[in-house]
Amino acid sequence: MKGVIFDLDGVIVDTAKYHYRGWKRLAEHLKVEFNEKKNEALKGLSRRDSLIALLGYTPSESRIREWSDIKNQFYLEYIQEINREDILPGSLRLLEEIRSVPDFKQALASSSRNAGTVLEKLNLAEYFDAVVDGNEVIKAKPDPELFLKAAAKLNIKPERIIVFEDAASGIQAAGSAGMRAVGIGKLENLSGADLIVRDLSEIDLAKIKKLFIETVVV
Ligand code: BG6
Ligand code: MG
Repeated sequence: MKGVIFDLDGVIVDTAKYHYRGWKRLAEHLKVEFNEKKNEALKGLSRRDSLIALLGYTPSESRIREWSDIKNQFYLEYIQEINREDILPGSLRLLEEIRSVPDFKQALASSSRNAGTVLEKLNLAEYFDAVVDGNEVIKAKPDPELFLKAAAKLNIKPERIIVFEDAASGIQAAGSAGMRAVGIGKLENLSGADLIVRDLSEIDLAKIKKLFIETVVV
């Protein structure tokens, strides 16, 4: 048995842009400089860690709560209208292909506490043998906890798993978990990945099997 673990935001669904918009709007409100380049470092982090990274310092707990809640309200507002057209190219085909073979299992592992809402809105939960989100872990990415928990739920060893990630923190988490990683996006943001593709339309089961043979987990 082998496993595939997918990140959600920016890998399966085009929601990374809504997280960015939410942070950008909060940054404007707080008069903090923020742009897409700075946002790369926030991808995959928990809401709390993202806020601290955006600010460049750790504010009081009450401020953390207040500002995180504001960003989350913006995000919830943006995702209210999402539908299956927001699913990224190649995702559904790959999820269906993996689901159709008996010797592969697939999981979703997202730092987001809103992952369940997104999966539900788009009817995606049925594809996964296991789901782990930000509500279930103490440490989000780059800590390996999310991926190790997903591996445990699948009952598959880390070295028999490939992770698909669009965030540098996610590639790092996969490495720390002892898993292979495919980066979705640009090399400059995803060094450390075993393979980098534009989106999941460039991946099929044959390529996944090849990756298991050609790459060694260190
Ligand atoms: C990750 C996103 O999936 O979830 C981050 O890449 C986001 O951008 C994080 O900050 C936490 O999400 P949420 O929905 O719990 O605020
Ligand atoms: Mg992501």
